[in-house]
Amino acid sequence: MNPNLDKLQSYPFEKLAKLKQGISPPENLSPIALSIGEPKHPTPPLIVEALIAHLHRLDSYPPTKGIPELRRGIASWLSRRYDLPEGAIDPERQVLPVSGTREALFSFAQAVIDPREKPLVLMPNPFYQIYEGAALLAGAGPYFLNTTRETGYLPDFESVPDGIWARCRLLYICSPGNPTGAVLPAETYRTLIERSQRFGFIIASDECYSELYTNEAVPPPGLLPTAHAMGNITFERCAAFHSLSKRSNAPGLRSGFVAGDAGLLTRYLQYRTYHGCALSLPVQHASLAAWQDEGHVVDNRAQYRRKFAAVHEVLNGVLDAAVPPAGFYLWSRTPCDDQAFARELYLRTHVTVLPGSYLSRDAHGQNPGRDHVRMALVAPLDECVEAAQRIREFVLSL
Ligand SMILES: Cc1ncc(COP(=O)(O)O)c(C=O)c1O
Repeated sequence: MNPNLDKLQSYPFEKLAKLKQGISPPENLSPIALSIGEPKHPTPPLIVEALIAHLHRLDSYPPTKGIPELRRGIASWLSRRYDLPEGAIDPERQVLPVSGTREALFSFAQAVIDPREKPLVLMPNPFYQIYEGAALLAGAGPYFLNTTRETGYLPDFESVPDGIWARCRLLYICSPGNPTGAVLPAETYRTLIERSQRFGFIIASDECYSELYTNEAVPPPGLLPTAHAMGNITFERCAAFHSLSKRSNAPGLRSGFVAGDAGLLTRYLQYRTYHGCALSLPVQHASLAAWQDEGHVVDNRAQYRRKFAAVHEVLNGVLDAAVPPAGFYLWSRTPCDDQAFARELYLRTHVTVLPGSYLSRDAHGQNPGRDHVRMALVAPLDECVEAAQRIREFVLSL
């Protein structure tokens, strides 16, 4: 067996299942799960219809590179979303559809890492669990960048020594962040792009929550538009990952894309050809329909905005949980140990939240997820409010 498999930690939801084992919550209270980050708003009919309309295309093997219409549709979406000049993204060389960003964020590391170099892969902490697994299975060492209240829940890149940057081969960034919802300013992207040129590492920018932002007038910046504005118009060493799962409420479609440096994507496509992860043709056509429509995304944001406002009203003054600028998570400090909080909350209220320490590692003398919980506002509005009310009473009783 691959010895690196032994380095993988159990997934947060396995830890959560263990934490809840043997507990009997009150049967008169309905179970409410705020623990899983799975979008629950209905998938827009235009996506479902496009999928059904192309089911007859199950007759062919799909191209790993994606059909040209989809690559063109994605390039146009990127240009519209980030106000890039016409032709800034070459659909032929700078876009690859992927079978969800989870798969892509993982396999990208396998393609770009040379394990002989004793490489480091830098990532935020807490973090989306795939980054760590990808680094370990690629034969690299993870290096964690703590995100704390003091750092505005963003990594403090300035505190990383040059010796670490010199060993860094891949940097994962996640903006808007899971679990924190924090958004990297364009200035930070600029600094990182400059640093990647100086030290020769690749930036994998996970932007899968980029379309779920709180202020309609302030969409989060991204890696590619920032690179372009700096004159890095070939997006050298830059790869941005986008998904339809959260933007378009289609987590089961398994569809996203990676865009950026054509040289990197050529080698990555070579890897993917062997990896065997092409999107079926109906999925590619449904994805094109999704990227071509913004109406459902505006509506999606409005639904999350209503939920954040309603839940914040209930929890305000009880829990330290500010409404984040983006994403669908409340990342709250807990008045006691996060595991004890989650366990006791479940026992008394039948509400499940995810302990923050399950999403983070001990690094630099602390565990930045400790004493936090993640609450995903994916359930319907009334269920989120009901959960918030139960949490409020629970906290007040502590
Ligand atoms: C930060 C982050 N990145 C990537 C993903 C993967 O999403 P998908 O594979 O559905 O595109 C998730 C899913 O929860 C996530 O939270």
